[in-house]
Amino acid sequence: MNALDKRKIIIDTDPGIDDAVAIAIALFDETLDVKLITTVAGNVDVEKTTNNALKLVEFFGKDVPVAKGVKKPLVLELEDASEIHGKSGLDGYEFKEPSRKPLEDKAILAMKKVIMESDSPITLMPIGPLTNIALLLSVYPEVKGNIQEIVLMGGSTTRGNKTPMGEFNMATDPEAADIVFRSGLSIVMCGLDLGENALLYKEDSERIRRLNKTGDMIYSLFKHYRGGSLHKGLKMYDSFAIAYIVEPEMFKTQDCYVAVETSSPLTKGCTVVDLNNYWGKKSNVKVCLGVDEDRFKEWLINAIAKCI
Ligand code: BDR
Ligand code: CA
Repeated sequence: MNALDKRKIIIDTDPGIDDAVAIAIALFDETLDVKLITTVAGNVDVEKTTNNALKLVEFFGKDVPVAKGVKKPLVLELEDASEIHGKSGLDGYEFKEPSRKPLEDKAILAMKKVIMESDSPITLMPIGPLTNIALLLSVYPEVKGNIQEIVLMGGSTTRGNKTPMGEFNMATDPEAADIVFRSGLSIVMCGLDLGENALLYKEDSERIRRLNKTGDMIYSLFKHYRGGSLHKGLKMYDSFAIAYIVEPEMFKTQDCYVAVETSSPLTKGCTVVDLNNYWGKKSNVKVCLGVDEDRFKEWLINAIAKCI
């Protein structure tokens, strides 16, 4: 495919084991041009997520710039998910310490430059808390004119995984999520609803291990990932966002009005999805309600097969 015809994306991420899988797929998809990776505090602190992003880019031998995001959520203090992804955020594989450095520009300035200088609209793929994206849209609202859509991993139509009603990315920075969902931009939400029904089982992980160097690396991470287990099935949450960008037909979606709870101590960070349009409001989010499980799994394995 001609470089000019490729879809241009920015990945905003907190690697993160499932983030690493999504990044691998994005970097080797022949229809995509990953312009920038920005890092956010989430699964672990931003120093670690930045170092992890640099390690991944170096591992894959790709020349994609990495820019560091802010240290903490807009209002709350960071409560990380190192119990799920390990202390480093990518426990289980011995990466080389990266020789490359993050850009001098911090994440939101780097994003703004890429978006404003691009001759075609950019797709944002946030797969961590929405802190950087909220700041970008607030500080540089002019970028909205050149954003094609935001395809994010986060939220849920039912329950949470950080709190009873809060999915991790949303509940980590509810105020940021609220800003993004009210931005007026075209948003696709790939939430927890998808994960339970598209588990990777031991035989799938074994297949991935045998594919190539990336498969072997991913398998090593899987053994330490607590997003499910190798035996009961692993949840590849962040890969849904990249899967939607590349093959949206795999998903069952519904346009809905979605709001983020920011004040209740019980349900802070909950994505309230008006599936039945009780409020009669115009939809602001395309919500992914389901995915063709077999197709997703084959797609994922084939996508990893394209990596080194
Ligand atoms: C999300 O939380 C993180 O731990 C994962 O990387 C994913 O982005 C799932 O709730
Ligand atoms: Ca993530």
